[in-house]
Amino acid sequence: MRHPLVMGNWKLKGSTHMVSELIAGLRNALSRVDGCGVAIAPPVMYLDQARHALAGSCIALGAQNVDINLSGAFTGEISANMLRDVGAQYIIIGHSERRTYHKETDRAISEKFAVLKEAGLIPVLCIGETEAENEEGKTEEVCARQIDAVIKTLGAPAMKGAVIAYEPVWAIGTGKSATPAQAQAVHKFIRDHIAKHDTAIAAEVIIQYGGSVNDKNATELFAQPDIDGALVGGASLKADAFAAIVKAASAAKKS
Ligand code: PGA
Repeated sequence: MRHPLVMGNWKLKGSTHMVSELIAGLRNALSRVDGCGVAIAPPVMYLDQARHALAGSCIALGAQNVDINLSGAFTGEISANMLRDVGAQYIIIGHSERRTYHKETDRAISEKFAVLKEAGLIPVLCIGETEAENEEGKTEEVCARQIDAVIKTLGAPAMKGAVIAYEPVWAIGTGKSATPAQAQAVHKFIRDHIAKHDTAIAAEVIIQYGGSVNDKNATELFAQPDIDGALVGGASLKADAFAAIVKAASAAKKS
């Protein structure tokens, strides 16, 4: 039976002070969570601090990116083994901001997926269409292409234990979330697409929604049968709002 996962993507936000304040607030608000995974992905700079601050809590540690190389002359990069070493478990890859600003290709993202699996870490694979693609009716085509980049190189079993985050680019940071029905239709398409390769893996894979999720719209989104929690940007920086989203996911308890 799959559980929802609510993960905070802090992006390029934070300071040592903010990390200790926000984690203290989250621990206070989320002393116990049932039936829902919770994780936060602070900037890599603060992972070790966050690991210590999270010790003994029900909140797992995540990160926002990884390099495809494990070691060597790759200035500025962070390896999967380093992320594992500092206790990160859930690693976001393929976020639209990286696809856009860092020109990450489907191929590079599938290599990141492979390196994470190899290191025993959980890839959180972000996929989703731009506004223009949405208007041209290409949502399903884009999502299928982004998933197939992984399945064609690594095989469908690579999806076992991984997380997919469907994040329509037009909904990220805009305050304009997809409607629950819109999101559900795409999530169902994604699950059915994976089921063409392996029905058991498709039934178990966590498919998060991301894009302007907040404490007001979370309950309705999580009531949809194929929406398994959320990848949360802006609202993950406020302890109360993030905790309310986690509680909404926990209350939704789907089978
Ligand atoms: P948002 O960001 O919640 O601020 O829209 C989501 C994300 O980029 O993962």
